[in-house]
Amino acid sequence: MGKTQPITETQARELQPGTLLDEFRIERKIGEGGMARLYLAVNLDGQYKVLKVPRQSYGIDPVCVVSLENEMRLAPYLEDFPHAHMPEARGAASGGYLVMDYIQGVDLLTHLRETGFLSEEEAVSLIRKIVLAMSELHQRRILHLDLKLSNVMITSDGNVRLVDFGLANHLDLPDLIYESFPEPKGTPAYIAPEQFIGVRDDPRSDIFSIGTMLYEMTTGKLPFPDARTEWGVVQRIRSGVTPPRKYNPAFSGAFEFLVLNCLRTNPDERFNSMEELYETLGLWEQEIPIQGIVKFAPKDEAPPERPSVTAALKRVSRLIPRIWEKNRDDFERLKRWADDRVKSEKERPFRVLVAIDLGQDASSRELNERVVRHAIDLARGRHSFITVMTAVTEDTGLAGPEKEMKVYNEACIRARKAIKGLIGAAGGDGSPVGINVRQGDVVEAVNGCIRDYKADLLVVGGSRRGALSRFILGSTAYKILTSVRCNVYVVH
Ligand SMILES: Nc1ncnc2c1ncn2[C@@H]1O[C@H](COP(=O)(O)OP(=O)(O)O)[C@@H](O)[C@H]1O
Ligand SMILES: [Mg+2]
Repeated sequence: MGKTQPITETQARELQPGTLLDEFRIERKIGEGGMARLYLAVNLDGQYKVLKVPRQSYGIDPVCVVSLENEMRLAPYLEDFPHAHMPEARGAASGGYLVMDYIQGVDLLTHLRETGFLSEEEAVSLIRKIVLAMSELHQRRILHLDLKLSNVMITSDGNVRLVDFGLANHLDLPDLIYESFPEPKGTPAYIAPEQFIGVRDDPRSDIFSIGTMLYEMTTGKLPFPDARTEWGVVQRIRSGVTPPRKYNPAFSGAFEFLVLNCLRTNPDERFNSMEELYETLGLWEQEIPIQGIVKFAPKDEAPPERPSVTAALKRVSRLIPRIWEKNRDDFERLKRWADDRVKSEKERPFRVLVAIDLGQDASSRELNERVVRHAIDLARGRHSFITVMTAVTEDTGLAGPEKEMKVYNEACIRARKAIKGLIGAAGGDGSPVGINVRQGDVVEAVNGCIRDYKADLLVVGGSRRGALSRFILGSTAYKILTSVRCNVYVVH
């Protein structure tokens, strides 16, 4: 038995078997990702639990820090969700860690590496369980947004469990991931095209990832290669998907249709919802000769009448003709789709952006606190989102790109912590306040945030003395005030 350690120490180094962390005794490490270590532990009642403990070492990607923060923030909404791991956040204010039920099983990636590809029927039956879990998740207004084989576990009794909610988005909360990094996050080969252009609130993005999983499970290949740049995504869309039957002619036409339908570029052309997909997958279990039902036929050739499936097919058959549509201009169309969607938003939140200069002295801290408090007051009483931003400019001298990235990551994590402290001090802990730390020129960073968040109001601090005088009275402030395209509120 070891001594109980304070959490900050545990974040720095690995926990050894026997170490006590609150009421848990560490048994062994069971996993290690970029951002966290997972330990199997036993609680006072002798129950096995999994602890996900952040590795708060500086130099790691800030996305890792924020995604664990996000997962901990969503834990209360998943505590009673049977298809996940009943997470519970501990000591969130101090960095904390996540406690989850121990899932006895393996993740699907490992599982499939052992068992090999699945047949159409096996894949449909497995994916249907995942789709059911996802439909219940969507009913809770939570999107997963990072669905992939390694984030789904299969238990010894054949049930599925969703793990890793680091990039998830609760539709009734501000999106912490987007607030922090408007550029796309997720696993490039799995995520939907709209996720590349910053859309993170459409449930059909998860349907796309289901399509990717289904494709991979049955063909052993990914439908799209990794795309990391916008150009890569355009290429990905242009080249289209190789139909699964090219790899295995034994797949039914219905199966191919189903997979390709999930993978459509335009979300409007995919299955509408997890429920619709679930129902369609149910056709395989009804022992109907599906082969003959959905044909890749010209649009005027009606599918044969079969009373038990007519209703389901009516819904999906409206999409069949579109499958041959050319992909060429799909990306441009997708961008228009995303723009139209923003325009038609009925209840767009009032977006407040707070620009902070993280000066070192006490007077600038005091002013910053006042600025944040003011922003919270200005936003009160209406549906609004606040993002507090700052820009870090680190002089990395002649350092190489790797060192530069490390220095930037460290500065970014330090700045996030400082802003978090400010929000807490300004009484905004319970409010929906996001944090965004950008690199480089302040004026560009502020304007970038205004554009990305479509901010309605910019709040800045102004003082005649101290570190901020540069910011508000100097040339930087002048450039900000004269270049921004939204209302500005200056707090003195
Ligand atoms: N509650 C759990 N019980 C058992 N194993 C788990 C549990 N949660 C995660 N794992 C295993 O740990 C791996 C990594 O967990 P995950 O939450 O996906 O971390 P990361 O964010 O580093 O990807 C999973 O693929 C799974 O194999
Ligand atoms: Mg994972």
